[in-house]
Amino acid sequence: MTTIPFSENIYPAASDSHLRDRFLGKRVEDLPTPVAILDERVLRRNCELMLQATKALGIGFRPHVKTHKTTQLTRLQLGPDGDGKVVVSTVREAEALIPLIKEGVVKDVLYGLPLPPSTIPRLSALLASFPSLIISVLVDHPSQLLALVDSLVPGQSWPIFIKLDMGSRRAGVDVESEAFKTLLGIIRDTELEVAGKVFLKGFYCHAGHSYAASGTNSAFKLLNAELEAGKRAVGFARTEFGLSAASSREWTISLGATPTAIAAAFVSTYPESENGRDFATAMKVYADIKVELHAGVYTMLDLQQLSTRVMPPPNELGVGDIAISILAEVVSIYPGRGENGGDEALVTAGTVGLGREPGKEWAGWGVVSNWGLDSESVSGAAKESGWIVGRISQEHGILTEKEKGAGGKLEVGKKVKIWPQHACIAGSGHGWYFVVDENDVVKDVWAEFTEDSQNYLQVEWELPRHYIPLNEVKGYAPPDPTPGRQKQHS
Ligand SMILES: Cc1ncc(COP(=O)(O)O)c(C=O)c1O
Repeated sequence: MTTIPFSENIYPAASDSHLRDRFLGKRVEDLPTPVAILDERVLRRNCELMLQATKALGIGFRPHVKTHKTTQLTRLQLGPDGDGKVVVSTVREAEALIPLIKEGVVKDVLYGLPLPPSTIPRLSALLASFPSLIISVLVDHPSQLLALVDSLVPGQSWPIFIKLDMGSRRAGVDVESEAFKTLLGIIRDTELEVAGKVFLKGFYCHAGHSYAASGTNSAFKLLNAELEAGKRAVGFARTEFGLSAASSREWTISLGATPTAIAAAFVSTYPESENGRDFATAMKVYADIKVELHAGVYTMLDLQQLSTRVMPPPNELGVGDIAISILAEVVSIYPGRGENGGDEALVTAGTVGLGREPGKEWAGWGVVSNWGLDSESVSGAAKESGWIVGRISQEHGILTEKEKGAGGKLEVGKKVKIWPQHACIAGSGHGWYFVVDENDVVKDVWAEFTEDSQNYLQVEWELPRHYIPLNEVKGYAPPDPTPGRQKQHS
């Protein structure tokens, strides 16, 4: 028995109750900068639309929490009658969900990166603390599986998904590759050897390159490619496990990213979309396949997502659909210093607060909204101001005018709201979000790691080390992890 002192887990987060005491009821313009602001109405709308749309489509939905890492937004993503399935990209995100796991709102956590062996004890400790929780893991290499088998704790079982590479070459195996078949064979052997304590649940695709999509049909092409790859994988799995499509064993194909998920989810709104029709039909082909969509940044949206143009006119997404903005303050002004002869200004948000990716359609590292800069911004819909973040350093950004004179008047000390290119990266630079209402008053503070989670973690968890030594697992012979291994069928 080994004790993992949770003092080892140092979570650098201000206390959420302290933040609330200090900031609830304040107006946005009175906040320090840089801070991340969330417009609660827009968030709720984005979350509800995705829930309604996936329900109408009859498809499962597994929101990703990496964008925000907060319990509050996870709750909105799951809705009042969600099935409690989420994806995380770090163990820390899973641990941050402890208050929702305790409540039974989160029931099933998929660790969305091929399993690093060092995370197994922490995930296993989480499972030991919440025995009814399901923790699913991704694998794309036999060694991850062997590490999991090596660390098996009595009473725990682990659904696994094979991560499929959809061409982005970030993670996963190509479904047509020898490596995929080898992995499938090893999983089958292992499943038998550990009596189902580790079992293949399905296949996970994430076409991250869908961020470069342009239009609804281009997103659907990627989505259909994911579905096809998933179905091919299920076909191979049926053969490997000796099952037919009529078998009671169910396979899950988990697919999506925000551009493709938006395209899929809203297919019912666009019955004329050929790819959409194909997808809706293709999804329903086999009784033993369950399709679920996963997505994360749809909650907040950002300039990158607007650029994908997956929603066709007249419903295309606009800046009014972006729930996140970064509040920054003008530090200095440089009249006429711009390349186009326009003015420039220094603000308090740089790469750390805004992200590292410049945009194409919306140029720069962020776009300044007209909030507080023109009289219309008080009552009208959010609009661009004519200022963009044209250059960036670690803690500061340089505002430039899109065209000379387009930006309007700035003053030192003026606060500006900037829409980021990529909400997940921008948000993670801040640690907590100020959640504001339609009057720009702070209604809540959502911290990435709440006191409730921290209190829980201060209880020292005892990590059982009753690992079953390999030689004691009945009939276990370590599979040969050599790629290209020829499986012997008896
Ligand atoms: C593995 C994985 N799955 C799902 C998602 C969710 O994608 P998105 O934020 O585009 O909705 C991500 C995001 O990067 C991811 O890395």
